Amino acid sequence: MKITDNKLFLENISVESLMQEYGSPLYIYEESVLRSQFRQLSSGFPQGLLEIHYSMKANSNPSLLNILREEGSSIDAVSEFEVRLALESGFEPQQIIFTGNNNTLAEIEYCVEQDVAVNLGSLVLLEKYAERFPHTKVSVRINPGIGAGHHAHCITGGPDSKFGIYHDQIEAALAISKKYGLTLNGVHSHIGTGIYSAGPMLEAMEMILNVAEKFPDLEFVDFGGGFGIPYRPEQQALDMKDLSRKMTKRFQQFSQNFGRDLVMKIEPGKLLIGPAGLLLTTVTNITETPKYRFVGVDSGFNHLVRPTMYGSYHKILNASRCTGEEKDVVIVGYICESGDIFSRSGEEIHRSLPSPKVGEHLAILDAGAYGISMSSQYNFRPRPAEVLVQGGQSRLIRRAESFEDLTQCYVDFN
Ligand SMILES: Cc1ncc(COP(=O)(O)O)c(C=O)c1O
Repeated sequence: MKITDNKLFLENISVESLMQEYGSPLYIYEESVLRSQFRQLSSGFPQGLLEIHYSMKANSNPSLLNILREEGSSIDAVSEFEVRLALESGFEPQQIIFTGNNNTLAEIEYCVEQDVAVNLGSLVLLEKYAERFPHTKVSVRINPGIGAGHHAHCITGGPDSKFGIYHDQIEAALAISKKYGLTLNGVHSHIGTGIYSAGPMLEAMEMILNVAEKFPDLEFVDFGGGFGIPYRPEQQALDMKDLSRKMTKRFQQFSQNFGRDLVMKIEPGKLLIGPAGLLLTTVTNITETPKYRFVGVDSGFNHLVRPTMYGSYHKILNASRCTGEEKDVVIVGYICESGDIFSRSGEEIHRSLPSPKVGEHLAILDAGAYGISMSSQYNFRPRPAEVLVQGGQSRLIRRAESFEDLTQCYVDFN
């Protein structure tokens, strides 16, 4: 991404020309950013120690999955269809780990049939699995009693969280495994998403390793994802270099004491794809009240729900006029709800930027993760197209939805 003649470009392609070619609104991804995020992350760990399982819930477009596969990524999947998409996108079953929650046995059976490793997050599911597949290898998700994340909805560890077998119930898991002759070969945990300091990650790591050392057949420990990216201009990124050094040192020491070469896994989503994507929109309307100047665009929380759902900040640029006299504005979408605000940051809703005019394009940055993958068809609005910019060229990687796409599942229609 760069600014030339006061306009936003992706590599050497202007936002204006992308909008002309593909229409508005539009998700754009930069291949070079995705590759460099992956390479930067993996270079922080010694070769052979770490397996990176991209958390495909962040963005499951197969064209992006292909890029990550080429880089050497494996997959973290959470649903049967995610597993199927990953397999049909060319990942080997052995590269996929399934960690759902509140799963049916049917989903687990599908994974087992496909030879995909499953990671079970409750004692009830572990027992169901054991009855169905005694004397097999399986791993468990634990709740280490510690959680962290950018919003309460994103904290997945600690006593308020529904995820995993609570660490103090691990003896019960071991008893089930003994009763049915299971081999518990891995321990998994994911404490939350949007974590900006190493502290909770390392604290959770200690708790997870305390559990892991009780597993005589241990082959891997999976520490999940959650690595925060700087959405705000002043926000400090999680220091991944420091964290990876500390995780490596601790894990190697653990492995040595355990007496076996163990594999460390992590499951980043946002860290890899978040900075690689942006949502482009067009200004359609300006409305003023005694309090605010509302700038309306042709997209909404149906396309990017993070600001509405979590109050999450996304940087917004006027891609048609990147600098100029700034005004305080509220960037709002076309969904028929007052909460449809892109410029939200917690309770604050306004933003200062070169005052957008009708017809200009706004770029909502760092929208690659949990953007299109959390999108909906609310208000009977179609999802936008997705475009990949690679080597100075752009290409469509998902077309925009049509009326027919939105109506095809209705039984009593046409
Ligand atoms: C089990 C699991 N692993 C990994 C992730 C990825 O998190 P992030 O995108 O913050 O790295 C998630 C996200 O919720 C998750 O639930």
